[in-house]
Amino acid sequence: MNSIFQGKSFLAEKDFSQAELLHLIDFALHLKELKQKNIPHQYLAGKNIALLFEKTSTRTRAAFTVAANDLGAHPEFLGAQDIQLGKKESVADTAQVLGSMFDGIEFRGFSQQVVADLAKYSGVPVWNGLTDLWHPTQMIADFMTVKENFGSLADITFTYVGDGRNNMANSLLVTGAILGVHMRIVSPQSLQPAKEVVELAQGFAKDSGAQLLITDDIQTGVKGANVLYTDVWVSMGEEDKFAERIEALQPYQINSEMVAATGNQGGNLIVLHCLPAFHDTQTEYGQKIFNEFGLTEMEITDEVFNSPFAKQFEQAENRMHSIKAIMAATLGNLFIPKV
Ligand code: CP
Ligand code: NVA
Repeated sequence: MNSIFQGKSFLAEKDFSQAELLHLIDFALHLKELKQKNIPHQYLAGKNIALLFEKTSTRTRAAFTVAANDLGAHPEFLGAQDIQLGKKESVADTAQVLGSMFDGIEFRGFSQQVVADLAKYSGVPVWNGLTDLWHPTQMIADFMTVKENFGSLADITFTYVGDGRNNMANSLLVTGAILGVHMRIVSPQSLQPAKEVVELAQGFAKDSGAQLLITDDIQTGVKGANVLYTDVWVSMGEEDKFAERIEALQPYQINSEMVAATGNQGGNLIVLHCLPAFHDTQTEYGQKIFNEFGLTEMEITDEVFNSPFAKQFEQAENRMHSIKAIMAATLGNLFIPKV
C-alpha cells in the first residue's frame, strides 16, 4: 500500500490536514536524527529533481539541494535566466517537458497560479518553494522548531509582528490555525491579512480550537507570546516600498522592549525569523537603508537577533530536514497508509 502523500504536490498548507502536517513535522524530526547519527536514508535513489527559481534564495535552494543529495536524488538548478519559462514557453508546455524528464519539481516565484499549473500539467509532485501568497515548506521547519523547543505544539501562543499580509503571515496564520496553535498577527491596519486568508484560517480554527487574533495593538498582541516571529518589511518584488513600510512598521520592530512586553522569559519564549533579516548594516540593502533613512536595523534589533531567545539559525537548518521530509513523503514510495 502506498503512502497517502505519494504523488501529491505541496502547494499550500490548506491542502493538508492537521494529522498530515503533524506527520511531516515528526518525520522531519526523525530525518534530522538520522542525519545526525549518519544513518543513510536514500528514499529517492536515482530520482531527478528540478529546482526552478524565479526569485533569489539561500536557504530554500540550499535545503532542496542538500536534501535531494541526502535522499540519493540528483537536483538540477534551473534559474529564471537559464530556461525559457514565461519568456518563450508557456507554463503548461514547460511543465509537460520537465515532467517527462524529472521525478519532482520545486518552484519559487511570484504567482501561485504558476506553481499550481506546474503541478497540473507536469504529472509529478511539485513543491512550492515560496510564492507571493504562501511559503508552505517554511511552515514545516517553523513548527518543527517550535516543537523542538517546547516539546509540543499544545497551548502555544504564537505572535507574528510586521507585514501582516505577506506570504509568511498568510502561511503562519493558516498553518497555526490548522495545527491548533493560538496565532496572533500584529500589524498596522493597512498591512493586515486579506479577508479570504482570515476566513480560511477561521474555518480551520473552529475545528482545531486555535484562538486567532489580528490586531494593531502591540501590547495586547505580544502579551503572553511564547513565539515572537517577524519577517522583512519589504518582500521580494516590492523593493520600491521601503519608505512607506519603514514609516508604518517601525513600532512593530522586535526589540528588547517588545521581548519584555511578552511577560515571558527564557524557556517560555523563543524568537524566530524566516531569514534573511535586516538586523545590521552589513549588507548592501542595510547600507542603503542606513544612508537613506538613518536606520541601522529594521524588523529585529541586532541585540535580540543575537540573544539567547533567538532560534533563527536552528530554524534555518530545519528547512533542510523538513524539505527532505516533504520530498520523501511525496515521492519516496514510503509505507504511510494513514496518519
Ligand atoms: N527563508 C527563506 O525562504 O530563505 P531564502 O529566501 O534564502 O530561501
Ligand atoms: N516575505 C519574504 C520571505 C522571504 C523568505 C519574501 O517574500 O521576500
